Amino acid sequence: MNVPNSGVRRIRKAVFPVAGLGTRFLPATKASPKEMLPVVDKPLVQYAVEEAVAAGVEVMVFVNGRNKRAIPDHFDKAYELERELEARGKQKLLDIVRGIVPENVTCVYIRQPAALGLGHAVLCAQPVIGNDPFAVLLADDLLDGRDKPVLAQMCDTYAEYGASILAVEQVPTSHTDQYGIVQLGKKPGKVAEIEGMVEKPKPEVAPSNLAVVGRYVLTPRIFELIRELPRGAGGEYQLTDAIAGLLPYEKVFAYQFDGKRYDCGSKLGYLQANVEYALRHPDVADDFRAYLQQAVEEGLLETPA
Ligand code: G1P
Repeated sequence: MNVPNSGVRRIRKAVFPVAGLGTRFLPATKASPKEMLPVVDKPLVQYAVEEAVAAGVEVMVFVNGRNKRAIPDHFDKAYELERELEARGKQKLLDIVRGIVPENVTCVYIRQPAALGLGHAVLCAQPVIGNDPFAVLLADDLLDGRDKPVLAQMCDTYAEYGASILAVEQVPTSHTDQYGIVQLGKKPGKVAEIEGMVEKPKPEVAPSNLAVVGRYVLTPRIFELIRELPRGAGGEYQLTDAIAGLLPYEKVFAYQFDGKRYDCGSKLGYLQANVEYALRHPDVADDFRAYLQQAVEEGLLETPA
């Protein structure tokens, strides 16, 4: 058994970059951030915040851009709505609305003045993160950790290794140009040291098919490296490039998490998440399952002529 590294600080802060344009979901994302898209009845960003809360995070730092109001409003108190629900005796809904963030959690909002990439978004959070290790969660990757939420798995791994931890999973080789791709050292495994990293390489030059998904636990030295970055893939300041720059100074580990990822930044992944979460949702699971069975029997899945 590995002995926890006692000199390691707990992860108390998390950054949620939520300033992306969400162009793949237009027009739904014209006036509202993609992180507010619901899976069944809860916005993506709330799933990510709940995952962070389950990992012991107490300070949530949202880096937002245009359409900035919906997310702060979602995590704020909603006096009018609460009064209305109270007056109508809707206690269950009132509890849901009041319980979105636990009382010990603080939400901080930072405006990213221009959409200059994920690295730049993370750098915007530096005044709040300071010299602490921290997590980054990209809410459009919905991670179902099943037995243990994925960020909690990663925080345990961080406590053991005392180094930055990136969640990774295998992707089809033809998809490497959609992700940060890692090159592992000689000892592959569930937790493996990273030797190199490239942002969105073409399949023919990708060092592997292990992709970084949207969960990171990072040490604060990353800020120095982001500051020195030239623009990278897509003309943006890439977090991947900063992590690659960290490798000569600190170890960074890839962590193959337990659970399933839904790529809710794509229409297909988003629809898959809705179907699978609906099949587990206490309000609709039985009726939805019956509907799907009936729809299949009635030929809904047959290719239209
Ligand atoms: C970002 C990161 C990429 C990572 C991906 C995970 O890309 O830049 O390294 O693999 O998230 O979802 P984006 O999806 O914002 O293009």
